[in-house]
Amino acid sequence: MPNKVFHPEIPTVMSELSIPGELITRLRAAQRIAVLTGAGISAESGVPTFREAQTGLWARYNPEELATPEAFQHDPKLVWEWYAWRQDRVRQAEPNAGHLALVDMERHIAEFTLITQNVDGLHRRAGSHQVLELHGNLFRAKCFNEDRPVESWPDSDDIPPRCPRCGGLLRPDVVWFGESLPEAALRAAEQAAAHADLFFSIGTSALVYPAANLPLAALKAGATVVEINPQPTPLSSYVTFSLNGASGVILPMLVAQTWGKQRIHNL
Ligand code: OAD
Repeated sequence: MPNKVFHPEIPTVMSELSIPGELITRLRAAQRIAVLTGAGISAESGVPTFREAQTGLWARYNPEELATPEAFQHDPKLVWEWYAWRQDRVRQAEPNAGHLALVDMERHIAEFTLITQNVDGLHRRAGSHQVLELHGNLFRAKCFNEDRPVESWPDSDDIPPRCPRCGGLLRPDVVWFGESLPEAALRAAEQAAAHADLFFSIGTSALVYPAANLPLAALKAGATVVEINPQPTPLSSYVTFSLNGASGVILPMLVAQTWGKQRIHNL
């Protein structure tokens, strides 16, 4: 029976180089795993974390000021171009060892749900199948007026391009500040958190709700909760195991120590 007490254990804080044996035992026994990832898992792919300073032309803009419907209404060209720049950065990036270790983990677990706040699509590019994108995807567009996805549009010099159905402006299909998360994905993520034996919170500052609720909900439901992050977060003092380090280092170690050496990935 899972322990129903909130925060049932003193968190085990450890260095990059040792994975607690108890965690390996629980991983081997786990039937249902849910994983929440944030920008930190893509940091080792060279994609800047959300709250990191931007570079070059964009250095003077705060992402939290560009990622809003108001910013788009005020200056749609600026916001579209910012996303185009981010798309370029992600196109040049490759999934890293952390993404790949999660692909391997999925192969070993009967019910595995990967929930991401990232809009970079790197989990799918790495080969993960069950991915819930809570904050949308940089490479999709939707109509600002109709709020419906748009797959393609005629070539033109318009920035942003126009919706081929209604002529409205196209916008990136991502969740901006002040907007709701996609309902079906959020419901599925909440279900996965509520039923997980083990829940991982990886590379996220655990500051942005409702995603930040998921590890807490898993804890309340009796799951073992593991955080992987080089820095402490508001979640750190609640979790069962706190693994301090880069996900690209810790996740492959965790998977290798639990299930043995993994296949070679061909990307
Ligand atoms: P943040 O930029 O807030 O946090 C990134 C986290 O990754 C930090 O806690 C870092 O310490 C950690 N980190 C950095 N390098 C790491 C590494 N190599 N391995 C593991 N962790 C590492 O990004 P998010 O938590 O993803 O939402 O931000 C969540 C949401 O906040 C974003 O999706 C965005 C923003 O509001 C929306 O746009 C709606």
